[in-house]
Amino acid sequence: MFEFEEMVTKLKKDPKTIVFTEGSDPRIIEAASRLLSGTFLKPILLGNEKKIREEAEKEGFNINGAEIIDAKSYDRMDEMVDLFCELRKSKGVTPEEARKTLAHNNYFGTMLVKMGVADALLGGATYSTADTVRPALQLIKTKPGSNIVSSVYILSRPSATGQKELLAMADCAINIKPNEDELAEIATSAADCAKIFGIDPKVAFLSYSTLGSGKGEDVDKMRHAAEKAKLREPGLPIEGEIQFDAAVAPQVAKIKAPDSEVAGQANTFIFPDINSGNIGYKIAQRLGNFEAYGPVLLGLNASINDLSRGCNATEVYTMAIITAALAEDKKPEAAK
Ligand SMILES: CC(C)(COP(=O)(O)OP(=O)(O)OC[C@H]1O[C@@H](n2cnc3c(N)ncnc32)[C@H](O)[C@@H]1OP(=O)(O)O)[C@@H](O)C(=O)NCCC(=O)NCCS
Repeated sequence: MFEFEEMVTKLKKDPKTIVFTEGSDPRIIEAASRLLSGTFLKPILLGNEKKIREEAEKEGFNINGAEIIDAKSYDRMDEMVDLFCELRKSKGVTPEEARKTLAHNNYFGTMLVKMGVADALLGGATYSTADTVRPALQLIKTKPGSNIVSSVYILSRPSATGQKELLAMADCAINIKPNEDELAEIATSAADCAKIFGIDPKVAFLSYSTLGSGKGEDVDKMRHAAEKAKLREPGLPIEGEIQFDAAVAPQVAKIKAPDSEVAGQANTFIFPDINSGNIGYKIAQRLGNFEAYGPVLLGLNASINDLSRGCNATEVYTMAIITAALAEDKKPEAAK
């Protein structure tokens, strides 16, 4: 699958630690046992140790070697509370409030990444996207050079040539109604991430209009966003605004956008908002037989990703490898 083997090779050279916020979930336990047998990733499972071990035994999974941390008995909790209060001081968070918040594994796990105990985090098997992402937005924040956190899905299916057909779609999961500047940033971040997955990005800013064929403020927004993205990254092939058929079908592109270097060959799609993006990638997944990996979060100062609540153990395993492989070689911040 795409650059997956390379990701595993990278992790074998430099194994990472990944925290799972839902440590007692059977899908997480199964994925952790598979990861442990590969020895290139060290899982940290959050939750009650007895419950997790009993669940693993019941399901027949070997999780020897996994670290299990229970927020209730974490020996560095005082230090974590202090750092949490420091990070949220503009919100006037008290130590009592911090302690209460840190009893929730989505916040506790995010702080483990912040403190450098783990390199990466994967959550969302039971938490909603908003509840998985919000702690990261509040505590990890954007990385230098990024103004927003956004997301991309990588879609993969077999092609007639025997190679995988790979697409990137953004932002289908985080920013509800991005403005022009945000769309431009989403596009360049998504294109950067697409490259990591082996895609040579050709970016289409999707609309119901192609190069002025339709009118309306949403059309203007996508055209302006495309222009702004071109200014951000002049070397990146970008087209917009453009309809989906003109973006992907060469015969339509010849008619609607004959001079475009992207039309007919786009592989990185920027949607106007989360509605269209979320619907769009799910259509590709369910009707187009694409496997969807993501949402891979972009612009965040650590590698933290969200699972679908409907995920299975194989998807957890795959996303864990992707998430760990995208972690910077340096831990985000050592504990103060
Ligand atoms: C991501 C999301 C949860 C953030 O919204 P929220 O929880 O209401 O968060 P807030 O607006 O209160 O912001 C919380 C913090 O995150 C920051 N933030 C919010 N969105 C951000 C973004 N896109 N990039 C960077 N920071 C962001 C805010 O500045 C704020 O920081 P502060 O607390 O230090 O002031 C929200 O945009 C959302 O629900 N998106 C859709 C998620 C979804 O349902 N996806 C579909 C399923 S895949």
